[in-house]
Amino acid sequence: MASGYRAGAWWENCLSQNFDLRGAGHQGFSRWYNLWLYQAKLQGFIRACRLANVTLGGTHMLEVGPGTGWWTRLFREWGVTALLGLDIAPTSVATLAHQFPEFEFRHGDVSESVPAGPYDVITVFDVFEHIVDDRRLIAALKNLTTCLDPDAALIVTDNFGATRAISPVPEVRLRHSQTYFELFASAGLQLAAIVPNCVVLNKIFPDGPWPSRMRKAVAEVDNMLAPLLYAFDVHLSPYLGRFANHHTAIFRLATR
Ligand SMILES: C[S@@+](CC[C@H](N)C(=O)[O-])C[C@H]1O[C@@H](n2cnc3c(N)ncnc32)[C@H](O)[C@@H]1O
Repeated sequence: MASGYRAGAWWENCLSQNFDLRGAGHQGFSRWYNLWLYQAKLQGFIRACRLANVTLGGTHMLEVGPGTGWWTRLFREWGVTALLGLDIAPTSVATLAHQFPEFEFRHGDVSESVPAGPYDVITVFDVFEHIVDDRRLIAALKNLTTCLDPDAALIVTDNFGATRAISPVPEVRLRHSQTYFELFASAGLQLAAIVPNCVVLNKIFPDGPWPSRMRKAVAEVDNMLAPLLYAFDVHLSPYLGRFANHHTAIFRLATR
């Protein structure tokens, strides 16, 4: 796919300019908005782990694309024994190695190779939608399944509800949900649990000839309303799953 997007350079630029929740999160909104967005994702993650009986304490974990380490900090609090972070952006690797000396961080592209496991838990949070080439996504899934322990969990956050394939910006490719699930199944992965994280947070502005002033104004309103949007998502997204735009999905090896 000739999108002009070069993942390594793009993420290095983003994270070296904004090593914060905006740089790693939804860049169309403010840091304050992203704070609420991450809290909504956290609630979804906790619900999914409960449903699939996943606990992190004492595990050996691979975190793909740790970014600014927002999740890494939580994983440490929750008692992960060993964690290896793999990120395509050197800034992430260098900063997190300094911030988390008890864990290991390596520079690399998950679609090229993954440090040998086995791992009890692998997380891939908001990374696959940035692997815009399907062949590279298939390679990444293959690399990850080969280093999963038979009872391990692969936890992925992304939009699993898209009703069509769409690239709203060159660095994002949302797959049609059916295609997306088929890719996981072809890699030998079986869905253990999925929960919606966001319905009204994490929005993408609809396609169309909207003036940039209008996009900006809508983003500003959303920035101000972020706590309300968060409350809506945390309480109502479990009942509005088919409208969700962001999910936590937990997969296990189909052959275990
Ligand atoms: C949207 S950010 C998410 C960061 C973090 N997981 C979070 O949820 O806060 C995507 C992260 O994945 C990394 N990344 C993107 N493509 C990657 C790839 N092919 N292999 C490894 N890391 C990648 C980026 O450098 C960035 O740190």
